[in-house]
Amino acid sequence: MNDVRIPKHVGIILDGNGRWAKERGLSRSMGHKEGLNTLEELVPSIYNSGVEVLSIYVFSTENFKRPKKEVDYLMGLFSNNFDRLQSICNANNIKILFSGRKENLSKKVLEVEDRLEESTKTNTRGILNICLNYGGMCELVDMTKKIISEQIPVEEINEEVLRNHLYQELPLLDLLIRTGGEMRVSNFMLYQLAYAEFYFTDVYFPDFKEEEWVKALSTYQQRDRRFGGIKDETESH
Ligand code: IPE
Ligand code: IPE
Ligand code: MG
Repeated sequence: MNDVRIPKHVGIILDGNGRWAKERGLSRSMGHKEGLNTLEELVPSIYNSGVEVLSIYVFSTENFKRPKKEVDYLMGLFSNNFDRLQSICNANNIKILFSGRKENLSKKVLEVEDRLEESTKTNTRGILNICLNYGGMCELVDMTKKIISEQIPVEEINEEVLRNHLYQELPLLDLLIRTGGEMRVSNFMLYQLAYAEFYFTDVYFPDFKEEEWVKALSTYQQRDRRFGGIKDETESH
């Protein structure tokens, strides 16, 4: 699908799991569990809308600051329940990629990352980029290290070179969604969001079902993207 009104690359900062659970008198863990259920429901709908790449922020480099119990629960959720996501992606011909630092992740989580990437690598309809132990600042540090270690001459450094040394070679973000009411980026895809349209909603992620996605998409479609240019060149004088 080449309709420009369909964002090619969508990013979701899935936030509000803890508050969703607290409002219901449940533990934060239950919020994370429900968030994963929502994600599983949402993935097919998003690709059915014509989106080619979906980047989801499931754990930031800073999330290690949380209590060990919560970190352990989240890691357990990733290692024990991502198999369902694998089946959904295989059923929908979606390739899975993981972005983020490998350090600090358990062997179990790393094995799951490898398995999901391996078992979906020939899928061609779209890409699900799972940002786990991901930080935008870390990505820029890692990009810089790669560029320096390849000894690329200073005069050859340009925007394209930088992009080619990010974790993945993906289109820049067209639409960035953040659920849970906070109006911040929290270290997500700092380079890739250069010209992204932002959509913030108070809806907590576990409640971000297909109809909320449709709202986000139609809001995006009403935006006027100019990329620094002007809308109507005939008006220029
Ligand atoms: C997002 O929900 C999930 C992760 C960051 C892993 P939160 O856990 O941040 O939920 P709130 O923001 O505390 O409600
Ligand atoms: C951002 O949410 C990280 C993820 C969604 C994985 P946080 O809940 O960690 O962000 P802050 O702390 O509110 O900025
Ligand atoms: Mg949060």
